Amino acid sequence: MTLQIGPHSVQPPVVLAPMAGITNAPFRTLCREFSGGKGLFVSEMITTRALVERDAKTMRLIHFDGTEKPRSIQLYGVDPVTVGKAVRMIVDEDLADHIDLNFGCPVPKVTRKGGGSALPYKRNLLRSILREAVGNAGSLPVTMKMRKGIDDEHITFLDAGRIAVEEGVTAIALHGRTAAQHYGGTADWEAIARLKEAVPEIPVLGNGDIWSADDAVRMMRETGCDGVVVGRGCLGRPWLFGDLVAAFEDGGDATYAQPSLREVARVMLRHAQLLGEWLENEERGVIDFRKHVAWYTKGFSIGSEARKKLAIASSLDELGALLSELDLDQPWPAGADGPRGRTSGRNKVVLPDGWLDDPYDCAVVGADAELDTSGG
Ligand SMILES: Cc1cc2nc3c(=O)[nH]c(=O)nc-3n(C[C@H](O)[C@H](O)[C@H](O)COP(=O)(O)O)c2cc1C
Repeated sequence: MTLQIGPHSVQPPVVLAPMAGITNAPFRTLCREFSGGKGLFVSEMITTRALVERDAKTMRLIHFDGTEKPRSIQLYGVDPVTVGKAVRMIVDEDLADHIDLNFGCPVPKVTRKGGGSALPYKRNLLRSILREAVGNAGSLPVTMKMRKGIDDEHITFLDAGRIAVEEGVTAIALHGRTAAQHYGGTADWEAIARLKEAVPEIPVLGNGDIWSADDAVRMMRETGCDGVVVGRGCLGRPWLFGDLVAAFEDGGDATYAQPSLREVARVMLRHAQLLGEWLENEERGVIDFRKHVAWYTKGFSIGSEARKKLAIASSLDELGALLSELDLDQPWPAGADGPRGRTSGRNKVVLPDGWLDDPYDCAVVGADAELDTSGG
């Protein structure tokens, strides 16, 4: 089973979801180590304005380990001209092999400015952004990732899908939730099936609530989608990518990773070390790693005190010493395969004044919409 993203054959058809603050080069490296290099691994979202302005932090975020192929960057932007410039820069400077556009982010500081999941409601603005992106991308495939809509009264994915096909987008990923749902409730896989029917011309990737490799296979079967995008299921569990490859390659004979705490501790140290190398500072790497501790240790009985200490470690030696004090022979805990990461809902989507009045209006709300954003 192969997913074709322009010139890139992705086999098996599994994609690491872009996650701000998570899917940087070190985390992608870890996932690729477990998958044997198979699959597609998307960067965290990069704001187009920061890229065009060559912001130092952003330039680090678009770093790819020399072995990463294809190099996949997710861009976020609200202004067609800036998006076009960012895409042109990526092409001219050979910064990536694939560009994904983020129209799914539900965080208030993004939707308040009409970005992320608020944007597809403005059909003409969406079209302009896609046109600029595809028009400047040369031979690079441009894909987009979106949610079902703003809320149940303002569903946009079918219109957005048709616009994407008309503008030459290569593939579409759909997270089966509205922005109003945030991460609450369950993802609507039925919507993924409907999108697949509506845009038969291009691959559709399904996203939302894949917690195990079996979920991925089931989503493909139930929705007819061409590939899957997996996000929170990988948090503290990069070996899920090994399971995904096994499920698609070995079918019913596949066996899945059930690492003991000793093996998990080894991965934790490696993750922290890779972050330190990437940030060129061991302490900063271990500090950045802190957010992953609760995910890696989920379900293991290590006690709240040890968890707290692990989450304030500031060197690899300290992290290693703390880990070695744990009962490392514990087997993989039953139940740790379920939901993890954000799971809460939200009632209201914060939008610019009058945003819902005219779905065809093309105004860009704020040039500062792209500053200091982080994904979701
Ligand atoms: C911490 C975090 C950061 C995220 N950042 C991004 C992002 O930068 N771009 C994006 O398109 N989606 C982002 N998302 C959404 C995921 O890509 C994905 O669509 C969502 O988590 C649903 O998939 P899942 O159920 O497999 O987690 C983020 C999600 C989380 C939990």
